[in-house]
Amino acid sequence: MKKVLITGGAGFIGSHLVRLFIRKYPDYSVYNLDALTYAGNLENLMDIQDHENYTFIKGNICDAAFIDALFAEHKFDSVIHLAAESHVDRSITDPLAFVNTNVIGTVNLLNAAKKTWADNMDDCRFYHVSTDEVYGSLGDEGFFLEDTSYDPQSPYSASKASSDHFVRAYANTYKLPVVVSNCSNNYGPNQFPEKLLPLCINNIKHSKPLPIYGKGENIRDWLYVIDHATAIDSVFHQGKNGDTYNIGGFNEWKNIDIVRLLCDIMDKKLGRDEGTSQKLITFVKDRAGHDMRYAIDASKIKDELGWIPSLQFEEGLENTVDWYLENEVWLENVTSGAYQSYYDKQYSNS
Ligand code: NAD
Ligand code: DAU
Repeated sequence: MKKVLITGGAGFIGSHLVRLFIRKYPDYSVYNLDALTYAGNLENLMDIQDHENYTFIKGNICDAAFIDALFAEHKFDSVIHLAAESHVDRSITDPLAFVNTNVIGTVNLLNAAKKTWADNMDDCRFYHVSTDEVYGSLGDEGFFLEDTSYDPQSPYSASKASSDHFVRAYANTYKLPVVVSNCSNNYGPNQFPEKLLPLCINNIKHSKPLPIYGKGENIRDWLYVIDHATAIDSVFHQGKNGDTYNIGGFNEWKNIDIVRLLCDIMDKKLGRDEGTSQKLITFVKDRAGHDMRYAIDASKIKDELGWIPSLQFEEGLENTVDWYLENEVWLENVTSGAYQSYYDKQYSNS
């Protein structure tokens, strides 16, 4: 009987991962530790909250004493660590919040795992879910590989790079059994509408401007969130101790093109004339230090673990739009209150 601690399980990717694990592995006890920041939302997990192999724990990974006590009580044998501050724009205005959660929070978890597993590390695993942004920015050609040198460019990516380094340092120094994956941009249901796609879906719905940073020529590699969850499942169960796995969809899009496609899909779904939503596109001041292009080479996880994405991009995007249109209450709840003041501040000088 495995006791798996998933951190950040009330967030976007974490909630899909928790759902996958409790359903696929009924003999595991799955614990979801989440501080329920602005990005954490138990509404994401309402359908499974009473599942018998699922326990929610509200708590902060920055609180070392609390984390130590939690490990002492439950004696988890595995950790899948997703809890983080995840938005690049917020890292530009408040870098220290990213240092605290992403770096210090991660080290607190590593220390607790090290202590708990000191006598026997067999069948234990510390899995750090990380990002392709640690590799920096690409030019027109090439892909990020697992051995690409780290070159983080934003406070967010610097904090994730730092936590990756700590995880590997604990493997080297204390022989902690670790695994790391670095994934490209996720999209899908339950993503907080500060990120490009859900922000544009919400704005199209309300006929508000669609803010495109700079010229919209920056490129991201998009992966459906449930495909990320299945990739994490593969790495967790089959990945080699100490190894890194890049996860991506071989699915590069310029920001302006992906937003135009989204506009066309939504015009059809909302019964609007073709071209209506594209008129909302508004070019605004660029993000400071904006990385130009990310592209993941996901050959290793395919060749070694047999994982490939299940969805075609257009299908995934349609599913995503349908989900946001069908879940109006979710969207209204997360965009009320603090969201509006964040939004107004973020886009006021654009
Ligand atoms: P998210 O912002 O939607 O969710 C983060 C979750 O962590 C929230 O539920 C939040 O409440 C929780 N959390 C934040 N600070 C905490 C703290 N101090 N203690 C406990 N819980 C805390 O993020 P996401 O997009 O789901 O990303 C999850 C992980 O995956 C992150 O580590 C991120 O770096 C990584 N990642 C994200 C993407 C992406 O495209 N979204 C891609 C690659 C990797
Ligand atoms: O690559 C993986 C990363 O992808 C994850 O590690 C991060 O947690 C996740 O937030 C995401 O980072 P990005 O910065 O790429 O995602 P975001 O949705 O914020 O932006 C995507 C692109 O769209 C980026 O080039 C910036 C641009 N953008 C974003 C917003 C919010 C705009 O043009 N306008 C906007 O309003």
